[in-house]
Amino acid sequence: MSRRNFLKRTVLAGAAICIAPTLEKVTAAERVIDGKSVVPHTAIPAGIAAVRTQRTLGSGKAAFTVSSMGYGCMGLNHNRSQYPSKENEIALVREAVERGVTLFDTAESYGYHVNEKLVGEALKGYTDRVFISSKFGHKFVNGVQVKTEEDSTPANIRRVCENSLRNLGVETLGMFYQHRIDPNTPIEVVAETVGELIKEGKILHWGMCEVNVETIRRAHKICPVTAIQSEYHFMHHTVEENGVLALCDELGIGFVPYSPLNRGFLGGMINEYTRFDPTNDNRQTLPRFQPEAIRANYRIVEVLNAFGRTRGITPAQVALAWLMNKKTFIVPIPGTTKLSHLEENLRACDIVFTAEEMNELEKAVTAIPVMGSRYDALQESKIQK
Ligand SMILES: NC(=O)c1ccc[n+]([C@@H]2O[C@H](COP(=O)([O-])OP(=O)(O)OC[C@H]3O[C@@H](n4cnc5c(N)ncnc54)[C@H](OP(=O)(O)O)[C@@H]3O)[C@@H](O)[C@H]2O)c1
Repeated sequence: MSRRNFLKRTVLAGAAICIAPTLEKVTAAERVIDGKSVVPHTAIPAGIAAVRTQRTLGSGKAAFTVSSMGYGCMGLNHNRSQYPSKENEIALVREAVERGVTLFDTAESYGYHVNEKLVGEALKGYTDRVFISSKFGHKFVNGVQVKTEEDSTPANIRRVCENSLRNLGVETLGMFYQHRIDPNTPIEVVAETVGELIKEGKILHWGMCEVNVETIRRAHKICPVTAIQSEYHFMHHTVEENGVLALCDELGIGFVPYSPLNRGFLGGMINEYTRFDPTNDNRQTLPRFQPEAIRANYRIVEVLNAFGRTRGITPAQVALAWLMNKKTFIVPIPGTTKLSHLEENLRACDIVFTAEEMNELEKAVTAIPVMGSRYDALQESKIQK
């Protein structure tokens, strides 16, 4: 669909939609974050669900300005059960572009090139307007992941980079993340290698996932880090406890929370009867997604529901807005296969919570113990403490 047709269509749709007064108020207001006035995205008609603000990940030479919310593309065809047709998925990704999203997240390992190829096809013709992040570091032999090992050797980083560029159909990656630490390759070697790729114009910026403060400091000295991408949401606060979020603040590094809805759980559409596709969903292997844990943890969704009801917002919006109100250098990347969820999630960018509301939410959520760990023992062993 051409941009003009999209705008015409969305204006008509906007006229027909009855937007709750609370949302009207927050979407119309210009946002001021930490004293900085954020320029509204004027090309998108008022009332249309969109991200109209930008945030900067990283600082100095590593600064990277992107839409305040990105799009996690993994679930479009990997690890999130059934998904719509390729045509529908491509149309959805392009809707996200038209609605202001400029950061799209994928990885070599999401179906081993399968997800990258879909993202590349969806964003063909749009790459002058958007950035694509990919990730290296898992070990593959003949396309099959060796789950007990990681590979961040310079040769593998370069190989993954070339594959990602080809799969995505771009000359430069916006971000290139190390997916998990490789205990056999010092982080200095990794940082030097990505530094060379930056000089060669193959990547713009880089980051790491699930690393600790020591690794971040060592890496940042060699090649300035733009963002850390680790799990962070209402049910998983490790980055608050292990000093990573504070270090990002100190060093001027951005933070990209992955699985910001706890793999869909905080959206409230998963319950103890939910059955995940046994051939395409890692949630069935996770302790936190076993029926008993889902039942116990649903109390957290109910807290978000109760909070949202008096404000006209959904639990998913409460979860995303909480992250975005936490720090101005946070850019969440929720994933979805549905236009209605994309719209719901993007509207969270306009929701401002007061300090009292943030405290109220945190107090209510932390009063509920979370049942079940987020990963199995092998996956957890790959996470730096
Ligand atoms: N660096 C890493 O190690 C790492 C690990 C995992 C993920 N990631 C990245 O993070 C991205 C997002 O992670 P994720 O997919 O695990 O988790 P997520 O974004 O927390 O949740 C995605 C799930 O939530 C559902 N959902 C989305 N919006 C919703 C809404 N408004 N209401 C109810 N349900 C909603 C989606 O289902 P529908 O399709 O039905 O909307 C989907 O199944 C991935 O795409 C990937 O790029 C990175």
